[in-house]
Amino acid sequence: MSNITFTMIKPDAVANGHTGKVINDIIEGGFSIKAMKYLHLSKEKAEAFYGIHRERPFFNDLVSFMTSGPIVAAVLTKENAVADFRTLIGATNPADAAEGTIRAKYAVSIDANAIHGSDSDENAAGEASFFFSAFEMF
Ligand code: RTP
Ligand code: MG
Repeated sequence: MSNITFTMIKPDAVANGHTGKVINDIIEGGFSIKAMKYLHLSKEKAEAFYGIHRERPFFNDLVSFMTSGPIVAAVLTKENAVADFRTLIGATNPADAAEGTIRAKYAVSIDANAIHGSDSDENAAGEASFFFSAFEMF
């Protein structure tokens, strides 16, 4: 699965009208879209998705933000997908994100930071199957 990553265009970027531009940046970055859906996360689903952050001080803010509006979830393919996608989106805090990255261009704050990208091959596979069935990722 090392050629797969998982992303969410977060509620701020969707609400601010950046969905089309973000998808364009992803495609121009050399990624292919294997599966994509538009949905509004429930509190239960957001808590489960971010379960690894449950003990972190920002967990409640993260869940509350991620359930504040619709998102776009997608599975992407590219050689070296996980690392290359993290480079394309930039640092977690948009103030630290390199110029030209998706977060530098579209993020509002460390919470409203426009986009998610998986941080390992293992998590990419788990996150993709959290949102999509094997049939949808065919
Ligand atoms: P993501 O999972 O969303 O792609 O972001 P990331 O890997 O760059 O950052 P991660 O450590 O996984 O944290 C998940 C999300 O929690 C929020 N966060 N807030 N206030 C803080 O110190 C803090 N740290 C993280 C961010 O919205 C981050 O995207
Ligand atoms: Mg992360």
